[in-house]
Amino acid sequence: MFGKRGNSSGHPATPHTQAPQAFESAGTDVLAPERPAAERPDTQEQAARPATPTAPPRVEAPQLMSQSMPQPAARQPAPSRTRSESYYDTKSQVFSALIETIDLSQLASLAPDSAREEIRDIVNDIIAIKNFAMSISEQEELLEDICNDVLGYGPLEPLLARDEIADIMVNGAQQVYIEVNGKVEQTNVRFRDNQQLLNICQRIVSQVGRRVDESSPICDARLPDGSRVNVIAPPLAIDGASLTIRKFKKDKLTLDQLVRFGAISPEGAEILKVIGRVRCNVLISGGTGSGKTTLLNCLTSFIDKDERIITCEDSAELQLQQPHVVRLETRPPNLEGEGEVTMRDLVRNCLRMRPERIVVGEVRGPEVFDLLSAMNTGHDGSMGTIHSNSPRECLNRIESMVAMGGFALPQRTVREIIVGSVDIIIQAARLRDGSRRITHVTEVIGMEGDVIITQDLILYDMKGEDANGRILGEHVSTGIGRPHFWERARYYGEDRRLAAALEAIEKKAD
Ligand SMILES: Nc1ncnc2c1ncn2[C@@H]1O[C@H](COP(=O)(O)OP(=O)(O)OP(=O)(O)O)[C@@H](O)[C@H]1O
Ligand SMILES: [Mg+2]
Repeated sequence: MFGKRGNSSGHPATPHTQAPQAFESAGTDVLAPERPAAERPDTQEQAARPATPTAPPRVEAPQLMSQSMPQPAARQPAPSRTRSESYYDTKSQVFSALIETIDLSQLASLAPDSAREEIRDIVNDIIAIKNFAMSISEQEELLEDICNDVLGYGPLEPLLARDEIADIMVNGAQQVYIEVNGKVEQTNVRFRDNQQLLNICQRIVSQVGRRVDESSPICDARLPDGSRVNVIAPPLAIDGASLTIRKFKKDKLTLDQLVRFGAISPEGAEILKVIGRVRCNVLISGGTGSGKTTLLNCLTSFIDKDERIITCEDSAELQLQQPHVVRLETRPPNLEGEGEVTMRDLVRNCLRMRPERIVVGEVRGPEVFDLLSAMNTGHDGSMGTIHSNSPRECLNRIESMVAMGGFALPQRTVREIIVGSVDIIIQAARLRDGSRRITHVTEVIGMEGDVIITQDLILYDMKGEDANGRILGEHVSTGIGRPHFWERARYYGEDRRLAAALEAIEKKAD
């Protein structure tokens, strides 16, 4: 009905040749959520109470090198000073006494808060009996540290508690980086040794029924709060296990917030709202961590309440506001290499689920073909994200993904399918100052010969940088008064709003 076959608009277009391109995998297989770790200490750490000193349970030793955190954390208040050797010494002694006293299997059956209380009571008793000299604040720190070691993720806990952190990257026991406000910085958090790090990785992945060791050194998992985790262990990771966590933001950024951050202009946001509402097929393209999923989440909020939406994700990150949503997640193979459910399986299956819109968290393989077919056959308004650095590259990636799926289709046919399916490509980027911006809103409008024709509606014009190194720029119109999806906007009664937004963005440029 709203076919955009051919470029009849007469508007400036950007022809480009489609070149095949190497496939890059984002590598995020995902597992089903499980019971929070805090509810059950690692089974390896379970022992009877009172434990016999001759057969101590295998318990992770206290983290001796967890350093003070620069900012306060909810679960562990950040000490503002560097801890002394005697602190670690005391902690080690208290920890050993605790392990000898506590029944970890009973602890596992308690709710997290009660388990914490139980540990605190025992640790307080130990401190009193052994007569350790410490201030109240030191004692409080020690209690938190020990609780984190026994119940949680040890030195990672304070970082997990900080909401402003987007990513945590652990490169072996001695290096922990975080991303805050788009900037990557090293923290002074350390693990005691690589074994402690590996134990924590083990604890994380065991919650989703996986294990990570020499024989299966790569694993994706999810924390109970929804954060996405990847572990790669030795011998593949040469300097100790590498752990990467994309923190799950409970309160996802809204389009209005993105406007406030300058990711898009208010007028540009208005156009995106229309795009989301009028069932354009949209691909959000961008590099790693450029804000693709955030943007996809924002766009879905403009879908009408009565539409049936099916989401397919590697790790359920999207938070749709509509009532009629079915959420699907892929599944990696089990330890025997069986039971894998791929993104392609999900997308194909959801076609049999009477979807009105299909939302694919990340398209990175042959499922692209199924998504394109869905977009082309009555599931208008479907959306997905793709790893690529420009709208043009996004089209190339789609072609290579189709080719990699083993579909022996002539190049021209593939391009025709793309043109018949994708309406809009929104490009997200993380700029060198750490800010995230929408750099292109581009329409796919047709073919000229063998070449796909696109036209940019909005571009981010970089003007320079200020004294603090922050990039200065603005979102500008390319002068297109009547986009290719105009008829579609009119059909949904959004043409006036679209015209007003286009006019406003144009005026601003004058
Ligand atoms: N415009 C923005 N301004 C500030 N922070 C943002 C913006 N967009 C996204 N973020 C934050 O950046 C982080 C990464 O965002 P997101 O998960 O959307 O990226 P992504 O491109 O989907 O990453 P990946 O490639 O790993 O899937 C999140 O913590 C998110 O809250
Ligand atoms: Mg993402």
